[in-house]
Amino acid sequence: MEHPADFAKGLSIGIIMDGNGRWAQKRGLPRTAGHTRGAQVFQDIADYCDELGVASVYFYAFSTENWKRPAEEVGAIMKLFGEYLIKAFDYKKRNNRIVFLGDRTALEPRYQKLMDEIEQGTAHKTGMVLNIAVNYGGRQEILRAAKSLAAEAAAGKLDPESIDEELFASRMYTAGQKDPDLILRPSGEKRLSNFMLWQAAYAELVEMDVLWPDFTREDLDAAIAEFNRRSRRFGGV
Ligand code: IPE
Ligand code: IPE
Ligand code: MG
Repeated sequence: MEHPADFAKGLSIGIIMDGNGRWAQKRGLPRTAGHTRGAQVFQDIADYCDELGVASVYFYAFSTENWKRPAEEVGAIMKLFGEYLIKAFDYKKRNNRIVFLGDRTALEPRYQKLMDEIEQGTAHKTGMVLNIAVNYGGRQEILRAAKSLAAEAAAGKLDPESIDEELFASRMYTAGQKDPDLILRPSGEKRLSNFMLWQAAYAELVEMDVLWPDFTREDLDAAIAEFNRRSRRFGGV
């Protein structure tokens, strides 16, 4: 597709990668086959966002509620994540800063170590910020910020009256980053499922019928085109 030059430049995009299980079920495959395919799509769409000049992208990979799933499925998702980490570790060729959102203390120690190394090794990159949310929950993130501020106030280091949106946002996993302009959810569901609750305040929600493993670059074009047709008012007129 031909785009105008500024089609997606500078946008911040959240993507709830949903529909892997249904994709596999439709084909008579185990749900894990959908996750394998979904992980490939994730890498291609991340590359495409970079090519389009997107400023930052937030991929929702695993929620704080997804631990409820059968151990076998959780294990398969974590294994795919680990494989991705090893690949992403080869970050030197790319100009992307990689940031992980979520409570990583519940993940395998070797994964935590790789995540730290990838973040530190890409911290100086000037291109698109690639955020990956793993064991991420919007409520958990807000509670964590509230606890850190409360602890400082209790220690007498912070005047509660001085807590404003900017200070609060600085305690989020997304500290220093732009709020998403649009949040895209494939698979036909119309809910946030605990994704970026704080940051989504004025995000445009774009929901699509395609299942994530079938999601293509053309689908992303369509989502951005839909976003570009929206009229954002931020409470004004
Ligand atoms: C998204 O696909 C992947 C994760 C939540 C980890 P699902 O596994 O939720 O797929 P459906 O929604 O069951 O089809
Ligand atoms: C949201 O999808 C979480 C991720 C895509 C990582 P879910 O499949 O977990 O959400 P629900 O259960 O349909 O709300
Ligand atoms: Mg789902």
